[in-house]
Amino acid sequence: MIEVKEKQFRNYNEGDTIAVVRENYRKMRSRQTVAYVQHMQREYLTYSRPMQVWEAIEHLNRFVDLSDPDMNLPNVMHLIQTAEGMREDNRPDWMQLVGLIHDLGKVMYLWGKDEDGTTLSEQWGLVGDIFLVGCKLPDTCVYPEFNELNPDMHDARYNTEYGMYQPHCGIDNTLKAWGHDEYLYNVLRNHKNNRIPEEGMVMIRYHSFYPWHTGGSYTYLMNERDKLYKEWVLDFNRYDLYTKRAESYNLDEVKAYYLPLIEKYLGNEPVFF
Ligand SMILES: [Fe+2]
Ligand SMILES: [Fe+2]
Repeated sequence: MIEVKEKQFRNYNEGDTIAVVRENYRKMRSRQTVAYVQHMQREYLTYSRPMQVWEAIEHLNRFVDLSDPDMNLPNVMHLIQTAEGMREDNRPDWMQLVGLIHDLGKVMYLWGKDEDGTTLSEQWGLVGDIFLVGCKLPDTCVYPEFNELNPDMHDARYNTEYGMYQPHCGIDNTLKAWGHDEYLYNVLRNHKNNRIPEEGMVMIRYHSFYPWHTGGSYTYLMNERDKLYKEWVLDFNRYDLYTKRAESYNLDEVKAYYLPLIEKYLGNEPVFF
């Protein structure tokens, strides 16, 4: 079983990387607006780049997540740590696969642009806790002092509790800040051989939605199904967060175990990113 270790995770106020983490959040909060998210959907949801899943995993060997105060290894090591933690606990094979691929949306950096926040050096459109655009930003966001920098918080259409949404409209029916969660969810939803169960797709889509799943915000937009969603996402989150450690894996050694899982749930045709 995963044990919550002495080490405290998600400490945003001290440590060597805090200035970088904080700056990424400042840019993310200042620039992720309704208009930006709509622009990103148009530009990035083109499903025009075929790539094998294992190839995408290998590309994250070059990606270090600038929003993560707990990890400065390449992202691929975090993917394997997450999956291996689930495997040790005998969690279902589809969940182990979800652990292995949950951050693959970060491959956007391969064709990203600095002005979109989707490159190795500008990651405010790729990583970090997400929030909803189109309604008031909650104080449960990390660095809530940056909320007022968001232009939508000075727009009467978007700066009230409900903003552009109806009460209990359901979290699926909201616009999320753009990042690797929403991107990968859409890529996989579009993949014709996708057999990942609904729980797994929800884990992928909402794992970075901390103000909701951990902060308890946005209950006034939730429907009945979202309560179940939250249980699934929190179950996933224990592994996403608490398996983080300095240990590296040899990619080739774990490949033999995970390739059949990829094939079982995603087939062996390329996925169109
Ligand atoms: Fe993630
Ligand atoms: Fe993760």
